Amino acid sequence: MNITGPETLVFGVTDVKSCNQYLIDYGLIAVASSEDGGRFEALDGTGVEIAHRDSSALPPGLDTSSMLRKTVYGVADAASLRAIGDELRKDREVTALSDGSLEAVDDMGFMLGFQVTKKRAFSLPAEAINAPGAPVQRAVNIIGVDDSVVLTPRTLSHVVLFVPDAAKAEAFYVKRLGFKVTDHFDGVGPFLRPQGTLDHHTLFLIETPPFLKGCEHFTFHMGGPTEVMQAGTRFVEKGYESFWGPGRHRFGSNWFWYFNSPLGCHVEYDADMDLHDDTWDARHAPMGADASQLFLFQHREKWAPGGPPPAVKSTGQ
Ligand SMILES: [Fe+2]
Repeated sequence: MNITGPETLVFGVTDVKSCNQYLIDYGLIAVASSEDGGRFEALDGTGVEIAHRDSSALPPGLDTSSMLRKTVYGVADAASLRAIGDELRKDREVTALSDGSLEAVDDMGFMLGFQVTKKRAFSLPAEAINAPGAPVQRAVNIIGVDDSVVLTPRTLSHVVLFVPDAAKAEAFYVKRLGFKVTDHFDGVGPFLRPQGTLDHHTLFLIETPPFLKGCEHFTFHMGGPTEVMQAGTRFVEKGYESFWGPGRHRFGSNWFWYFNSPLGCHVEYDADMDLHDDTWDARHAPMGADASQLFLFQHREKWAPGGPPPAVKSTGQ
């Protein structure tokens, strides 16, 4: 049951045009985009699909305001796909779609898809830094700051779900689909890693009242912390609203920057997440500001010495 990670998130939205533009401005590649929706991909072909919420092509929605309709997971091979189908058929309907993928709902009612992975291999260096005492990573005469750089998300990193029963949801992903708990916020929910990736988490569950059930956020991995900052700054300058960040998480150590979106959830940039294998023992902590962030910055407009500082904007409160 070698699940390699999420590959496509499908949303049924009210404002297709704004969502299409949002995902393009975020940096994803529009492989299809029209007034009916589109598909927007990272460098490895993982991505987000958009359609109008009334589209008959979409799986049914949750009984909440969440716009997430389906999470499609990649699996390593046909044997893994068969194993998942055999396991889930024990107690629920599993539909084989014409594209060879399987479809079934999890124990919270979220629609899942499973496909033999379609991720495209690519080769790009990580962000390189230099430090005294360490071998040179960024070569002589290669500058670290480039205003013209194109910042394209590399791969779909993780999705975070609000669930009404985190223990029940965790049991489904661990016992039925072979996910590992890497860390746990007590009273909130687990960080989960499927068998086929070393990433600290591709799924994080947060227990909430049932009416909130849905997608809290999703994120793509960038090439490093500078890309998170640079892409986030460009996103702010395009007029999008920062929700949380930039900063660095404790569990997972990933750099983060979250934004509001027209997809009914937050959308994040992240980078440099910890890797773990089966020798890792899950940590437990109560969730709170200190447990979730090593540090947190606040975006401000650029300023340089030489003139007066920018006027402080009213918060409107
Ligand atoms: Fe996240």
